[in-house]
Amino acid sequence: MSEIVFEQVRHAFGEREVLRGIDLTITERRVGIIGSNGSGKSTLARTINGLLAPTSGKVTVDGIDAAKKGAQVRKKVGFVFTDPDTQIVMPTVAEDLAFSLRRSGLSKPEIAERVQDILTRFRLDGHAEHPAHLLSGGQKQLLAIGAVLIRRPEVVVADEPTTLLDLRNARVVADALDSIDQQVIVVTHQLALLESFERVIVVDDGAVAFDGTPDAAVPAYRESVL
Ligand SMILES: Nc1ncnc2c1ncn2[C@@H]1O[C@H](COP(=O)(O)OP(=O)(O)OP(=O)(O)O)[C@@H](O)[C@H]1O
Ligand SMILES: [Mg+2]
Repeated sequence: MSEIVFEQVRHAFGEREVLRGIDLTITERRVGIIGSNGSGKSTLARTINGLLAPTSGKVTVDGIDAAKKGAQVRKKVGFVFTDPDTQIVMPTVAEDLAFSLRRSGLSKPEIAERVQDILTRFRLDGHAEHPAHLLSGGQKQLLAIGAVLIRRPEVVVADEPTTLLDLRNARVVADALDSIDQQVIVVTHQLALLESFERVIVVDDGAVAFDGTPDAAVPAYRESVL
């Protein structure tokens, strides 16, 4: 597993301080981040692969500073967005997956093999040549996750990957995330997703309000909003 370290991470959007000194060391394979709307979860998640640079403090992944060495960190850490439409760029499903590997240096047959592997794993084989925009919500999210996994990152950060989905599709995507060998960090409001996780971090008003097992963290979060 990678070691993701937050050291006194602060972030402000203009005058508004959104992360207020986060200290965390994450080495677990399954980590959830929960908390109220606007508490700073997405901001926190985005600092892990350098999508957003903290105003002060730093985030490192295996010692690499995510803000300073973004490209290097993004090779290790893939990011799955809530809305797969923002991530799907190519017309067909197979092309979209292959597009992720455009700068990988892999040969055409190697790319084709990886595309096929993802299509099979996420049961998208029947849709390889279909327009990506015609997939169902769940299938689109699987494609978005697949487009991240195809690069074989060591860590996958997913920001509310099941929020836009119905119950069945949410289940499919949750199972897909569960099946990943890599380290996974998931921001979610769907607390059931976290039952099998090793660690759950509760964020409140830009700070870590609780940090522990799902059994302890979920009730702590529930109580905090009563
Ligand atoms: N680009 C931005 N410019 C200004 N303020 C922002 C920006 N992005 C987020 N914020 C503010 O930062 C705060 C934290 O936002 P963030 O998206 O991290 O919350 P969140 O915990 O992910 O919330 P949600 O559960 O609703 O997704 C919010 O008050 C939000 O309005
Ligand atoms: Mg968010």
